[in-house]
Amino acid sequence: MVDHFAYAHQRRDEIVWMSQNTNCLPTDKRILDELHRTVDSGEFALYPYSNGVFGLNEAILKDLGLDQEEWEVLVTPGGIEALYILTRALLEPGDGFIASDPSFLPIHRQALLSNAEVFELPIYKEPWKLTLDQVKTVLNQRSKMLLLIDPLNPLGTSYTRNEVKEFSELAIENELLLVHDITYRDFTDKPNMASEFAPDRTIYAYSFSKSCGFAGLRIGALVAPKALMEKMRPFNTNVLSVNILAQRAALVALETKDDWFPGVLEICKKNQALIRDAVEQADGCFLPVYPSHTNMFIIDISNTGIDPAVVEERMLLDHGVFVRGGGYVSGGFGKNFIRVSFSIPTAGVEKFCHLFPKIMDELR
Ligand SMILES: Cc1ncc(COP(=O)(O)O)c(C=O)c1O
Repeated sequence: MVDHFAYAHQRRDEIVWMSQNTNCLPTDKRILDELHRTVDSGEFALYPYSNGVFGLNEAILKDLGLDQEEWEVLVTPGGIEALYILTRALLEPGDGFIASDPSFLPIHRQALLSNAEVFELPIYKEPWKLTLDQVKTVLNQRSKMLLLIDPLNPLGTSYTRNEVKEFSELAIENELLLVHDITYRDFTDKPNMASEFAPDRTIYAYSFSKSCGFAGLRIGALVAPKALMEKMRPFNTNVLSVNILAQRAALVALETKDDWFPGVLEICKKNQALIRDAVEQADGCFLPVYPSHTNMFIIDISNTGIDPAVVEERMLLDHGVFVRGGGYVSGGFGKNFIRVSFSIPTAGVEKFCHLFPKIMDELR
């Protein structure tokens, strides 16, 4: 069996990358210049300052509108490491970890490393996200953490301000920690913050991979109120700090984001409309969530009887278009859908749109 990632990386420049929700749109020149400048300076010969390059933590807090006195930032090599640190530090064996299915499953596996009990609530139905009533059905004495991925990978839904408020109140009433994974936050019109309602119980997993297009630079952050950060710091695996090129680029990205990010959003909006039109031409396929509140959504193909893994394989190996079968992000519903991300140049999306109805007809 072909390893799809090995195959795609070996042909990196020929592939239409719709498989990882990465942002493959051109990078702002100021960020590129900073990367080059940092290489030329030779700063990479030193361990970076352990608290992160000067100004970066403050810029992250400013981006989130959080108080510099009350909140702390730990820069990590990606949001995934922030999630690893927080699950390791704060979950005890037998603690309840409440999450959804579909979801970004690597986080659930991290919770399992602490021998937590993971509840994957089924959300492959309206409203395509967790509801308060659903979460209440699994609450018990051992419930410890609620994972709110917002917007949600892979479905593209996001939580309203009132929903975030209700989850926050539930967290306070039941002494839960609210892990607000805001990896895709910038893509949504109205991002909401759990810390507005449950400031002592909210922990953020923050990423530069998606909005800023830095997936390969590996940089993100753990953001938490001081008391919680104190408990998590001993589990920091990056006491020698994080890649200096990534940190320098991240700082410039935050300083310049208001200039270039609206352009990214505009392309995403256009691309997802193109995909919607293509899906409408494919019998038995539909988009459960449209428009998506982020840079991806899923295409339900369950009525076609075609295995999503076969769609992934044929699109990649025959045409160089890399989408993802649902199994990666869902234990219970993976056979129903493929996930496509669209923060890529429109020419790639057009290639997908041309292919998709044809391939579905061929495979039927
Ligand atoms: C919901 C979610 N959280 C965290 C991550 C990890 O992102 P990072 O690249 O910052 O480690 C991803 C990556 O796809 C994700 O989808």
